[in-house]
Amino acid sequence: MPTQFASPYRTHTCGELRATDAGKPAQLSGWVNRRRDQGGLIFLDLRDRHGITQVVIDRTDAPAAHEAASKVRGEFVVTVAGQVAKRLEGTENKRLPTGEVELQGTDLTILNEAKTPPFYVNDPEAQIDETLRLKYRYLDIRREPMARRLLLRSQLVHAIRDAHHKAGFIEIETPNLIKATPEGARDFLVPSRLQPGNVYALPQSPQQLKQLLMVAGVDRYFQIARCFRDEDLRGDRQPEFTQLDLEMSFVDEAAVMDFVESMIIEVSRSVMPERPLQTVPFPRLTYAEAMDRYGTDKPDLRFGMEIVNLAAALTGPDGKPASGFRVFDDNLAAGGVVKSIAAPGMAGATRREIDELVESAKRLGAGGLAHLAVEETGTVKGPIAKFLGDDGAERLTAAAGATPGDLVLIVADTAKVANEVLGKLRLEIGTKLGLADDNVLAYEWITRFPMYEWDAENERWHATHNPFSGVLPEDEPLLVTASGDPYRPSPKDPAGKARAMQYDVVLNGWELGGGSVRIWRRDLLEKSLALQGHSAEAMHEKFGALLDAFDYGAPPHGGIAFGIDRWAALFSKQSNIREVMAFPKTQTGNDLMLEAPSEPEPEQLAELGLKFVGRRGSVAGPAGDGAAGTVENLA
Ligand code: AMO
Repeated sequence: MPTQFASPYRTHTCGELRATDAGKPAQLSGWVNRRRDQGGLIFLDLRDRHGITQVVIDRTDAPAAHEAASKVRGEFVVTVAGQVAKRLEGTENKRLPTGEVELQGTDLTILNEAKTPPFYVNDPEAQIDETLRLKYRYLDIRREPMARRLLLRSQLVHAIRDAHHKAGFIEIETPNLIKATPEGARDFLVPSRLQPGNVYALPQSPQQLKQLLMVAGVDRYFQIARCFRDEDLRGDRQPEFTQLDLEMSFVDEAAVMDFVESMIIEVSRSVMPERPLQTVPFPRLTYAEAMDRYGTDKPDLRFGMEIVNLAAALTGPDGKPASGFRVFDDNLAAGGVVKSIAAPGMAGATRREIDELVESAKRLGAGGLAHLAVEETGTVKGPIAKFLGDDGAERLTAAAGATPGDLVLIVADTAKVANEVLGKLRLEIGTKLGLADDNVLAYEWITRFPMYEWDAENERWHATHNPFSGVLPEDEPLLVTASGDPYRPSPKDPAGKARAMQYDVVLNGWELGGGSVRIWRRDLLEKSLALQGHSAEAMHEKFGALLDAFDYGAPPHGGIAFGIDRWAALFSKQSNIREVMAFPKTQTGNDLMLEAPSEPEPEQLAELGLKFVGRRGSVAGPAGDGAAGTVENLA
């Protein structure tokens, strides 16, 4: 990056000088990455986020600069002026873009001294305890890996903005002090000083506001929006995170998906030109298909090893289970399933490896795990082979899609358990065998989610995605209760079968985004909210603005939101979104650098009309209980 404006501190950045600059005067500023004192000559590697340039100071030519340089230590901030020179032949550094030159410094000023940092800022490979990295995040970001990832994240957001502006979207900021917008997590609340006893909620997403913008005629909205959710943290979740949020008017599912897919392709190709997209157009799987074939609604499609239903291979000509192995036959007769995956090249698995797989399956909820190995000769071996007979065992392994060398793993259980267990084993084995190419970007769509899941505890239908998702037109008649009273949902309601106009985008096994075409008629939204357990008053209280707005001409509309942190993490091949966030929080929601959350001043509480009636103790900082102030259990 050329310095495009005059600076009293530098003419170039530390990543800029080349052999063609030899002979020119230059001034550089930055942090001292390394210093080597060779008596008459002092070498400084000067670093900024653009790169590293070698500076050499000769005692004979520049005694004052040499004297100053002798006081310099690692991470001091210095400015050096001098002349660019080609390095002597054989002393070039091929690993640095600036490696053909050095700055022969004649003036050196120490701008700021630095204490010895708590870890090696100048070693990109250094293994550093993450608690330290988070406490001294400003030093961590000074390191090359973090700086590179934040740059990549900035490029991602830039490309997203470009793609949306080109497609006629308007970027609009929505407020953060609002009323609850539920997305299934707890709200963070902000007490109001002007109206003691009242609170704002921080948005879990801008969902209702973006729908109101559609009623307002904005037509195509997007925002890089900060969202807040008080939920248990995992590698792909933070309490405060960033969404690409968008909404479009006069669209159906196909229109949203078409735009979104082209936007994703454009963004990926511009930010990650060297990483191939696995399949374009993106594969589209229904929720039911994804569960059936991969046991999850976010399958990693970078490798196969699909789950196969073995029923046909285990039934006789009369349609009755007749495999000869009772566990399979009884389970099928009882309405269960027998399903399998074929682990490539694992036919030679040791007893211990098999035991570990069986243990995993049991831990995941299966009663057991059967296996058959297809040896290189084609012979099928395994403890259950004798029950199935040679023909039966071969029929089964053929149906499982196994080829010589494969190990077939079989679960007989309910469809739900079999899918879930085999789905997780597929991932575990895929990871262990390194089946997924980590350079490939495998995007896919998952569609046709069920509208609701029954929430037995609260006796209501819980929206699987968000409360405003539209129902497929052909399933609209299903949005009724069995009792006829719209406010008395029960698990027998036809609504349980309704499918939503809802779609998720998955990338390499992570849920990257989710959205829907919305309900845009007041009567239908009221029906759906009643099924979700809201009384007429509660509905008005929580969603009054949206319901009222629908009385004033709401266009058909739909949209989606993406986790920017997840996208940036996947682009930088990181398994935790903290690695692409400048100042993330720990598992316990702490900012180790600022020591937040912290106790408010008594005056602040008084002004807000608040009083703690019980306390669990502050968990941040030196005064905390310690455990929560660390990043234990970071995953
Ligand atoms: P949803 O709740 O599916 O949908 O969120 C959309 C995307 O946001 C990301 N995400 C998170 N990222 C980091 N930390 C979290 N705690 C977190 N929670 C969610 C995920 C997810 O796919 N308003 C709807 C969108 C819509 O329907 O338009 C919504 O928020 O990548």
